[in-house]
Amino acid sequence: MVSSLDGFIAKKDNSVSWLEGAGSVYEAGVSMSGEEATTFVQAIDCYVLGSRTYEHALELGWPYGDTPTVVVTGREWRSARKSVEFYSGDLKNLVYGKLSPRYRNIWLVGGAMLCRRFLELGLVDEIRLTIAPVLLGEGLRLFGDSPTEEQWNLKDVVAYKNGFVELTYSAPAA
Ligand SMILES: NC(=O)c1ccc[n+]([C@@H]2O[C@H](COP(=O)([O-])OP(=O)(O)OC[C@H]3O[C@@H](n4cnc5c(N)ncnc54)[C@H](OP(=O)(O)O)[C@@H]3O)[C@@H](O)[C@H]2O)c1
Repeated sequence: MVSSLDGFIAKKDNSVSWLEGAGSVYEAGVSMSGEEATTFVQAIDCYVLGSRTYEHALELGWPYGDTPTVVVTGREWRSARKSVEFYSGDLKNLVYGKLSPRYRNIWLVGGAMLCRRFLELGLVDEIRLTIAPVLLGEGLRLFGDSPTEEQWNLKDVVAYKNGFVELTYSAPAA
């Protein structure tokens, strides 16, 4: 998930230019080669998307290739791609009954609504949050009100030359 410095993951008009960075250069940062990016993406076995993120991904030009993708929705859809299936129902059944027996690395893409539900249900074992060097002022917040406090464990920090910082956390022990 990529968030702005002030905690937004999408602009009101859904434009994504803020995700490309504005050319700020952090000299001590690293950059990811095309080969590294490919290896990273190839390690993902399955994507899970909320239906609004799905619609936006189709508009943007489908970045998930032929990797199996599950779209969570309560609506009926006609699939635009063979690799996509739609799921409606209990999210624990989705993860434990359907996905984890088949896939090891399950990547919850978002959006905010689906991520919050997965977090509430304790279905997330790792958070990868990349902070973009921009204040958006308004938009869609990743995190909403939550009744519980949870300590997550910082596992890794990577700062990139373009000013983005990737934070990886693992879930608190159950
Ligand atoms: N910055 C980033 O890294 C990032 C990543 C991902 C997404 N985004 C952005 O986030 C925005 C979309 O986020 P969002 O929070 O508005 O929507 P979302 O989470 O993508 O999708 C919400 C929809 O998912 C379905 N859904 C969610 N929870 C469900 C449940 N428990 N059971 C059944 N269906 C459920 C519902 O679909 P139905 O209405 O069809 O029933 C709901 O309307 C887009 O702009 C997208 O581009 C940004």
